[in-house]
Amino acid sequence: MNAQSRVAIVTGGAGGIGRAIAARLQHDGHRVALWDLDGDAAAQAAAALPRSISAGTSEGTSLGVRVDVTDEASVASALRATLAHFGALHVLVNSAGATGPVANVADCDLAAWQRCIDVNLRSVFLCSRAAVQPMLEAGFGRIVNLASIAGKEGNPQMSAYSAAKAGVIAFTKSMGKELALTPVRVNCIAPAVIETPLLAQMTRDALAASLAKIPMQRAGTAEEAANLVAWLAGDQCSFSSGATFDLSGGRATY
Ligand SMILES: NC(=O)c1ccc[n+]([C@@H]2O[C@H](COP(=O)([O-])OP(=O)(O)OC[C@H]3O[C@@H](n4cnc5c(N)ncnc54)[C@H](O)[C@@H]3O)[C@@H](O)[C@H]2O)c1
Repeated sequence: MNAQSRVAIVTGGAGGIGRAIAARLQHDGHRVALWDLDGDAAAQAAAALPRSISAGTSEGTSLGVRVDVTDEASVASALRATLAHFGALHVLVNSAGATGPVANVADCDLAAWQRCIDVNLRSVFLCSRAAVQPMLEAGFGRIVNLASIAGKEGNPQMSAYSAAKAGVIAFTKSMGKELALTPVRVNCIAPAVIETPLLAQMTRDALAASLAKIPMQRAGTAEEAANLVAWLAGDQCSFSSGATFDLSGGRATY
């Protein structure tokens, strides 16, 4: 089977990186469901996707779905809608996320801390758990999680986000090993700063400090993230699972 007949879900599909990933996967021939908390934005992003090379039209090849990826019932309902529309599932990209509270640990509100863990980590568990069975039935599966360099190094004043992304990295390792003898591969990417609306959630100082650490002296683009995800979602990613792929303009060295 080639990408022309595969179905992909991209959570956070209305966001900066998610939208670019959805566009790239559709360009490569996938039918794509864009899942997002903002259902209208997801529908608009799906409708605005460029034409699929394989089908020659975006009609029937993309779908916007409103979902709260932190909610078990909402994830189950979004998966039902996606399977009803496309009939199968082969690729899941967990891109929904948020930076959460920016504060010293001593001042950090518990509810805000927990919300950040939920949107970045609980979401990856819920969506990945739901995706496994359909992927095994399809005989092909690729799960790609959006972690962050914050999960490897720890950003000051972003303890919840850093802990959640470290959790995503460890979750990816665990699930990758668990499914190693199946056709499902599970990997994550760890970007440094990527130019998207998410950066508006960071303080000016935190953003400047992050950019200053990048040897290439620039932010990455959502398209550069999509290029890496497209490889991880395809046949050529055959001998990697449970792995973390850096996307940091030379910052990450381990
Ligand atoms: N932009 C960066 O510099 C950067 C760096 C490292 C990692 N990341 C990670 O990449 C991923 C995508 O980031 P982005 O820059 O595209 O962010 P973004 O803010 O542009 O998009 C995030 C999307 O997730 C959606 N979302 C939030 N909560 C949700 C929920 N509960 N249910 C469903 N959807 C929800 C939002 O509506 C939004 O469309 C995130 O996981 C982020 O942590 C981003």
